Amino acid sequence: MASEAHDAHARSIVGTSVITLDDLSIAQINELLDKARYIDTHRKDVAHTCDGRVLATLFYEPSTRTRLSFETAMLRLGGKVIGFAGAQLASVTKGESISDTLKTVSNYVDVVAIRHPKEGAALVAASAASVPVINAGDGGHMHPTQTLADLATLRSRFGRVNDLTIGLCGDLTFGRTVHSLIETLCRFGNVRFVLISPKELRTPQYVLNRINATKDCSYVEVSDLSEVIGDLDALYMTRVQKERFFNEDDYLRLRDTYILDEAKLRRAKPTMAVLHPLPRVNEIAKDVDDDPRAAYFEQVRNGMLMRMALESSVLGDELPGFDAYVNKEVAA
Ligand code: NCD
Repeated sequence: MASEAHDAHARSIVGTSVITLDDLSIAQINELLDKARYIDTHRKDVAHTCDGRVLATLFYEPSTRTRLSFETAMLRLGGKVIGFAGAQLASVTKGESISDTLKTVSNYVDVVAIRHPKEGAALVAASAASVPVINAGDGGHMHPTQTLADLATLRSRFGRVNDLTIGLCGDLTFGRTVHSLIETLCRFGNVRFVLISPKELRTPQYVLNRINATKDCSYVEVSDLSEVIGDLDALYMTRVQKERFFNEDDYLRLRDTYILDEAKLRRAKPTMAVLHPLPRVNEIAKDVDDDPRAAYFEQVRNGMLMRMALESSVLGDELPGFDAYVNKEVAA
């Protein structure tokens, strides 16, 4: 598979559900990155972009950042938000199917963000809904909007998202953010992946197949972080996904395999960026937070900006002033 990095213009994404980033072209993803950058510096100008719109956040699984980020994004665009967090309060406890919930909620709102513990749930939701559905994480499968945040962070640190050596470390089996990110970086092309995990938590075959099918991307699988840290441009740390383990003993045995601290960082490049989708447990020591290489709180900010870009785009609500801004950038 060749990379699509040189796609032409972005077609409109109005009405599109985003289950994985494969639902968007590279040109569309690049446009979202440009929009997020514009939003950041034109917050007042965009504050009424989604006036009169309503977003539903249907969260069947715990979340702090992602749900609040989707919601703040809509509020900052002038829209409103409804939803639930923790399905025990919703009709699902009475036995309602995802399809029925989505057919119902489609009557109330203009766009839905859904998080669910089952892989494929967001796809089921999108087929039942009559409004765009955005996957906010489906089990251990995908988490496309976290990837948008990750791409924005890489771009702000390096001015690009490819031609990089990227280490991904921790729970590569169940970490959906890792799967989404690899899938998308393969499309941009020219990335060397260093997959760092204990043997029990290796990257799933379908994700490795994706790298193998991409001519100009490659990977190595290793288990020792210190051995490879000096080669990396970016290091993406992840939490061992306790909730997806079948057995508590395995989790306890594996959870502290990797702890990034200042001592380990001494072996890394001075420009290396440390990413983490958060929440962290023990994977990154607190002393790393003040290191200029720590980029994980930047990711949080980028997550909100990218969700603002995505929500307004799938709704077809133009960001005032954006077109003139891009045309000026192109002309410059
Ligand atoms: C991630 C997730 O939910 O997959 N969190 C997030 O959305 N930022 C990562 C995690 O829970 O470990």
